[in-house]
Amino acid sequence: MGARRKTGILISGRGSNMQALVKAARDPAYPAEITVVISNRPSAPGLAFAQGEGIATEVVDHKQFGSREAFDDALHAALERHGVELVACAGFMRIMTEGFVRRWRDRMINIHPSLLPAYKGLHTHERALADKVTRHGCSVHFVRSDVDDGPLIAQASVPVLKADTPDTLGARVLDAEHKIYPRALALVAADALRVDGEKVVAVRPGLRLPIAIP
Ligand code: GRF
Repeated sequence: MGARRKTGILISGRGSNMQALVKAARDPAYPAEITVVISNRPSAPGLAFAQGEGIATEVVDHKQFGSREAFDDALHAALERHGVELVACAGFMRIMTEGFVRRWRDRMINIHPSLLPAYKGLHTHERALADKVTRHGCSVHFVRSDVDDGPLIAQASVPVLKADTPDTLGARVLDAEHKIYPRALALVAADALRVDGEKVVAVRPGLRLPIAIP
């Protein structure tokens, strides 16, 4: 096995997806190791979990910076300090500058709680219920400067039930997020795929992309 890819995780809050990635990376055979968890909010509950795991944490508080560029430069510097090769956004609630996205192009992934391209942006579960869709889910994609856009790596779909509220549907989707995000990061870290013409294509023989659950 080659060296594990040094991965930084960006959070803003709870960090349950970060926890799923950290737990997957406890396995020495997992192709990514989590070297730092960075939050833009000092009070993010997820930071305590990472510290408890012995993972370095950093706070880059957006309120301390006068511009998005200055914030993104500080974020970039923190990632570099920890030797990060791959970035996984996990509930990171900041819009990134084009420059930052370019620096991490095809090395930064994000998870979004919808079956993209449907329901970019916020309140995805409310919007899916209002539309009476029968399937909803989550997507992992490479980050581009358009929010919630970029080559798709993986999607997990779940049924929408008649009695669903945004909370019950959101919980079902979150469960799927925790399964799919570690799988997607593993494929990226193992170089099992690459981006070709804004589509994710397989490098590993037999791999079908985007991976889909179920
Ligand atoms: C998740 O639903 C994720 O898809 C979205 O923000 C939420 C973050 O939750 N980008 P958590 O902080 O990972 O628990």
